[in-house]
Amino acid sequence: MNKILKLITLFFLTGLLSVLSQNKSPIYLDATKPIEERIEDALSRMTLDEKVAMLHAQSKFSSAGVPRLGIPEFWTTDGPHGIRPEVLWDKWEQAGWTNDSCFAFPALTCLAATWDTDLSFLYGHSLGEEARYRKKDILLGPGVNIYRTPLNGRNFEYMGEDPLLSSRMVVPYIKGVQQNGVAVCVKHYALNNQETNRHTTNVVLDDRALYEIYLPAFKAAVQEGKAWSIMGAYNLYKNQHACQNQYLLNDILRGEWGFDGVVVSDWGGTHSTSQAIFNGLDMEFGTWTDGLAVGTSNAYNSYYLAKPYLDMIHSGKVGTKELDEKVRRILRLAFRTTMDKNRPFGSFDSPEHSSAGLKIAQDGTVLLKNTSNVLPIKLDKASKILVVGENAIKMMTVGGGSSSLKARYEILPLEGIQSRVGAQAKVTYTRGYVGDPTGEYNGVVTKQDLKDDRSSEVLLAEAVDAAKDADYVIFIGGLNKSDYQDCENTDRAGLELPYNQDKVIAELAKVNNKLIVVNISGNAVAMPWVNEVPAIVQTWYLGSEAGNAIASVLFGDVNPSGKLPFSFPAKLTDVGAHKLGEYPGKKEDLANKRDTVDVTYNESIFVGYRWLDKEKIKPLFSFGHGLSYTTFQYGKPVSDKTEVRADGHITFSVNLKNTGDREGAEIVQLYISDLKSSLPRPLKELKAFKKISLKAGEEKTVELTIDKSALSFFDANKHEWIAELGDFEALIGSSSSDIKGKVKFKLK
Ligand code: BGC
Repeated sequence: MNKILKLITLFFLTGLLSVLSQNKSPIYLDATKPIEERIEDALSRMTLDEKVAMLHAQSKFSSAGVPRLGIPEFWTTDGPHGIRPEVLWDKWEQAGWTNDSCFAFPALTCLAATWDTDLSFLYGHSLGEEARYRKKDILLGPGVNIYRTPLNGRNFEYMGEDPLLSSRMVVPYIKGVQQNGVAVCVKHYALNNQETNRHTTNVVLDDRALYEIYLPAFKAAVQEGKAWSIMGAYNLYKNQHACQNQYLLNDILRGEWGFDGVVVSDWGGTHSTSQAIFNGLDMEFGTWTDGLAVGTSNAYNSYYLAKPYLDMIHSGKVGTKELDEKVRRILRLAFRTTMDKNRPFGSFDSPEHSSAGLKIAQDGTVLLKNTSNVLPIKLDKASKILVVGENAIKMMTVGGGSSSLKARYEILPLEGIQSRVGAQAKVTYTRGYVGDPTGEYNGVVTKQDLKDDRSSEVLLAEAVDAAKDADYVIFIGGLNKSDYQDCENTDRAGLELPYNQDKVIAELAKVNNKLIVVNISGNAVAMPWVNEVPAIVQTWYLGSEAGNAIASVLFGDVNPSGKLPFSFPAKLTDVGAHKLGEYPGKKEDLANKRDTVDVTYNESIFVGYRWLDKEKIKPLFSFGHGLSYTTFQYGKPVSDKTEVRADGHITFSVNLKNTGDREGAEIVQLYISDLKSSLPRPLKELKAFKKISLKAGEEKTVELTIDKSALSFFDANKHEWIAELGDFEALIGSSSSDIKGKVKFKLK
């Protein structure tokens, strides 16, 4: 009897145990286990085919998971200003969904112009919520390629000419996005500084320029932002495409910076199976497309990292060590995103996103010039306001390449002005010139009818006539998102404004002395009429809230505080890349239509204001420049010590007083000058900044702290950062050319 009882108990216990063990989830699904343990467990369960399937796209914007194991697919989306509308599985045409009209955020040039790291976090966080709600796991952005030439068609997607500004601004954006369980994909790594010949340009540059100018923002994105993925660029470096590049990916990104995330190719940026295997690429997208339009249908299994890779493994030509490393990194990304059960659900096109977008658009707007306080517009002194220019009525969320959006709404500048003015004055509009009346990108159509067949003379005469008896004339022009302007795949033809705008502005200035020019662009433009026009506002592609943001600045509801994230040269030859060549590439290579075109960065580290300083060239408007409707007075800057040790910090303080009659914000900038060095160094370099809000009459002490890294240069021979002992000077100012005070100190 006892024996029978024992047997029955044993039987039940075994049954219970087996049920329990069946219910116990495998390690890779157990969120309490460390990620690295889960990765090894998942990897050990995968077949060769399943592993290779994870390395390449399965549709235009997605890649496969492991269906058998419940490991989800990855869905990517552009980036970087809003969530791209759905295209078909294997075609660029619109999928025709009706739930994908997003909120359009301002372009990254605008974000950079805020110099406000809190706004950068807000931007990233809000955009990450949009991505998450739209079930996107990888956001293809932000872009941090350095502004080398004002002709680069994609500068509007980046954060300007300065490595420190773009580094400081990119980190919070990344943290904000990734907080939603959505990965950023920082692009385009690296040296994608022009669109002309973007697939065939081979960048040649010295290591100092590479490390001091072109890499810091990527490094900050990886080490401080902890970016989970990065996108290789189209161009070549050292004659290898950047997406399969030993130096950029294996040596620097992984070797020197310790990147543990995924390297994603740009769409169509992969060119060889063996280089992709060995030189650090993890995921291949868009092969046999130009990333924008053309495409070979359903070619996914023939991608370089698909069947050709499997064939090489089967034939014994390559082993599986690299494969496992790639899959480990992709699984790590899955555990950080798609398999993170705690990630929030996101939100889409919410009032919060609208107010975030509006705030960023307002704070990024830069008041370039304001003679006799023409701005803000005083409505009590105006009964007739004339608005001139195509950009006042043209939608800008559509166009420009892959960052093009299908926005749920877009307030045009004219609409913003009309609704702000209301019945207080009469607002009239006249075109002035015709630029590009089309409005379509990738199947998204603006449905605007901007056709106007009148001649430029007639349009000009009409505008001039109307301007004669207006109390204020607001000209709203600049560039747009059409080819050869601020647009992917092409560069601009020159620095000038297109479509007869210079003539229109000059003629308007002759008949009305209350002319305000609002330049909408993502790039510097020449302004031959600068001395004739009393007020100039630089604004950017501002997204859904564009018109409201512009109106709030013009009518003084918002006091502008943006500062230029890149210099405005007076002419193209004032830019190092153009003065010294080489742009767009080596003449012989271009003439002989070689497969690749060398572009040598002869100007080396002297990019933007570093070049202008060196050559003593006065720009049209300097890096860091931006006025306010109030005035600020800087006290004499002091430092907390006169000598700093290599392992120490030094703090500079300056008193800042709002001496005007309204609240405003100033961005205090700290530049460092190495007074004596063994190598040529820029006259000064931005090393810290702070945005301070002050009420009328209020004053505050602003403190800026730096350490040895702010004094260092990259020594190419030693391959390390060096701070040479000796004398330095801190320059504190309101822009790179408006230095208010200097403090000398020593590095001991
Ligand atoms: C662009 C990328 C973009 C990708 C996907 C490429 O043409 O260079 O920035 O993310 O297409 O649309």
